[in-house]
Amino acid sequence: MQIIAHRGASYEAPENTLSAFGRALDAGADAIELDVYPLQDEWIVFHDRYLQRLTAHPGRLGDLTLDQVRRLKVFGQQAVPTLSEALDFIAGRCWVNIELKGADIQRGLTKQLLRAQRQAGFAAEQLVVSSFNHHWLRQLKTDHPEHRIGALTTSCPLNYAAFASELDAWSVHIDVDFVTPEFVADAHARDLQVFVFTVDEPRDMDELKVMGVDGIFTNRPADARQHLKL
Ligand code: G3P
Ligand code: MG
Repeated sequence: MQIIAHRGASYEAPENTLSAFGRALDAGADAIELDVYPLQDEWIVFHDRYLQRLTAHPGRLGDLTLDQVRRLKVFGQQAVPTLSEALDFIAGRCWVNIELKGADIQRGLTKQLLRAQRQAGFAAEQLVVSSFNHHWLRQLKTDHPEHRIGALTTSCPLNYAAFASELDAWSVHIDVDFVTPEFVADAHARDLQVFVFTVDEPRDMDELKVMGVDGIFTNRPADARQHLKL
């Protein structure tokens, strides 16, 4: 079972920062998941639409300029990285799942996302772009068929993983509350990887292992590896 560090090792360090990514690499995570928002001409690594929880700054992320965001500190400690900085930092040491948040993928930013990936030396198969917005994923796959996409869901649809096949996705990423053995079997029959979020409890890890999922997103990659004896 693959261990994907959710927002980095975010139980130990401020989420989606270089510090959390460094801890994830130290823990031997197979992959790092990070969330990105487009801001001006950059992708920045940040989870929330609003700034309050992570930076104590009022207002929306999109209200600030890139320079202003770069002066903020996540949990008073760590800078908000750009996607390029994050990929340069990880630099092929594990595969990366970029989760697209918030804004329009068709604003010409796709090219920039792929440029950041190439500059950091990631092969196409070392990067999976995921989103809850399946329209963006379809656009990305149409424009760049060589790239892996991951279809996110917080539901167990009537026709299981059919939506991910329709997108020609490599993987399906499903909420731990809704994954079932039937869903996993259907996804595997469609040749899809199944990754489950967010799994920090040993009991859930044990159940998912029995279910045969391919990986878990966890905030605690070191503990997960220890528990699963990886
Ligand atoms: O990509 C899996 C998971 O991160 C999706 O939910 O809200 O934690 O980004 P969220
Ligand atoms: Mg995420």
